[in-house]
Amino acid sequence: MRHGIPARLRRSVPWTEVAPTWRDAKPGLIDTALERAQARPSGNWYVLAASSEIRGDRPFGRTVAGVEIVAWRTADGRLHAGPGECPHLGAPLCRAAVRGGALVCRWHGLALGAHGTAGWEPFAAHDDGVLAWVRLDAVGGETPLPAPVLAARPAASSSLDAVMTLTGRCEPEDVVANRLDPWHGAWFHPYSFVDLRVIEAPSEGTEDPALDRFLVQVSFRISRRVVVPVTSPHRVQ
Ligand code: FES
Repeated sequence: MRHGIPARLRRSVPWTEVAPTWRDAKPGLIDTALERAQARPSGNWYVLAASSEIRGDRPFGRTVAGVEIVAWRTADGRLHAGPGECPHLGAPLCRAAVRGGALVCRWHGLALGAHGTAGWEPFAAHDDGVLAWVRLDAVGGETPLPAPVLAARPAASSSLDAVMTLTGRCEPEDVVANRLDPWHGAWFHPYSFVDLRVIEAPSEGTEDPALDRFLVQVSFRISRRVVVPVTSPHRVQ
């Protein structure tokens, strides 16, 4: 295996000298890619947090798709999740204690374990090593799947991962559509990307999810003059 620093020096290009990309970023191409992405099964899985945010010594709370959720880990590291309100009188379980693998409510001491109790049924949870997921069947309304559908990732031993969390009000399909327009990166995010070229775009009838992708050559800026060139697939899913 070859090791080394993949960084390169790159002179800054004035924004006005970046080649226009609007001819390539065809609205129809992006719209049909969005339709295919939305038609793929989700199995009702929703991202809850970065895996590293959920620890074994205290519960983690977040609202996803309007549902209050509490998550925690048992001593074996397994991820668990359930409704965020205590079934007794509604205390926030994100403030509970974790004892012996169970949540212990701070208001009156009810213990809630991974198997739940009457009136409080845990959600299916999945940890893929980077992201923690929760399955919300009542929200998703699709056929449940035993695990989220994940794109292939590089081996953890030869890659870095980072998860950013932002709270906002937006249409999820707008976020996905933005991802399916890689061309805007050179123009809208010049502080991050230089030399961005889309070298492969999916065709409308693409059936194989592995081939349904945009392939992008781009250099990420790590300082004003230092960049890291990469080839990055943007999958339609
Ligand atoms: S509200 Fe949780 S035990 Fe009473």
